Amino acid sequence: MPDDVLTALTIRPYDVGDRDVVAHVCVCTAAGGQDARGVYSDDLLMPDVYALPYVEHSPDLAFVVAGPDGRVVGYVLGVADTRAFVTWWEQAWTPRFRAAHPAPGAPTAHRPRYTEADLLRDGTDPRRMLRGLTAAELDAYPAHLHIDLLPEAQRQGLGTRLLDTFREALAARGVPGVHLGYDPANTAARAFYDRYGFVELPSSRPDAPRLGITSR
Ligand SMILES: CC(C)(COP(=O)(O)OP(=O)(O)OC[C@H]1O[C@@H](n2cnc3c(N)ncnc32)[C@H](O)[C@@H]1OP(=O)(O)O)[C@@H](O)C(=O)NCCC(=O)NCCS
Repeated sequence: MPDDVLTALTIRPYDVGDRDVVAHVCVCTAAGGQDARGVYSDDLLMPDVYALPYVEHSPDLAFVVAGPDGRVVGYVLGVADTRAFVTWWEQAWTPRFRAAHPAPGAPTAHRPRYTEADLLRDGTDPRRMLRGLTAAELDAYPAHLHIDLLPEAQRQGLGTRLLDTFREALAARGVPGVHLGYDPANTAARAFYDRYGFVELPSSRPDAPRLGITSR
């Protein structure tokens, strides 16, 4: 993308009309930060676990990066209270997820480490978000987030600005901190989080790393 277009990229609150493009950005960055289109039988599987429940539950905590033409190239999504989100997911999202993805689809040529069966299980198992975290960690870092930028928008400082925006929104709500998990193979994301100031939570494990940061 030329420099003049990049400098015109702006961060704005999520709008309900952004739903499809948020799903697109999600699947385009879902394979440990790389493109996951065509990896699973349905390109909506990843967004239905890692993006769309967030904008459905907490549209006010979603922010997108848009170009001058309005094209969305990235986002940060999250929830302020992970425990409450888990309850909402069980009641509201699991039935919708089951209806949309009742069974594994036709196999693709890909053999991802995170399989379609894993995704289908995670779509109906929101308690996975609490597993491993201590009560003290959840009290200190009750929010959690997902952040993704298309390749042409990366390394321009936008990820940093998205996190600043998200943390400011949390602080304004009196939420003390935010945690996140990431694919341990995504070393670029870890470098970004380390540079930003996230710290590893005591319960973090090499195969299930978890980081946290305060809102201010
Ligand atoms: C990870 C991601 C959110 C970072 O956002 P970004 O806008 O590219 O990052 P920034 O430009 O704000 O980077 C700030 C600093 O973080 C570090 N950093 C960012 N990306 C990095 C990378 N790929 N490798 C190493 N360090 C990196 C650098 O220190 C960077 O400063 P510098 O560019 O001056 O060297 C973005 O690259 C992305 O969406 N990647 C694909 C999807 C993904 O992996 N999402 C996270 C899933 S857990």
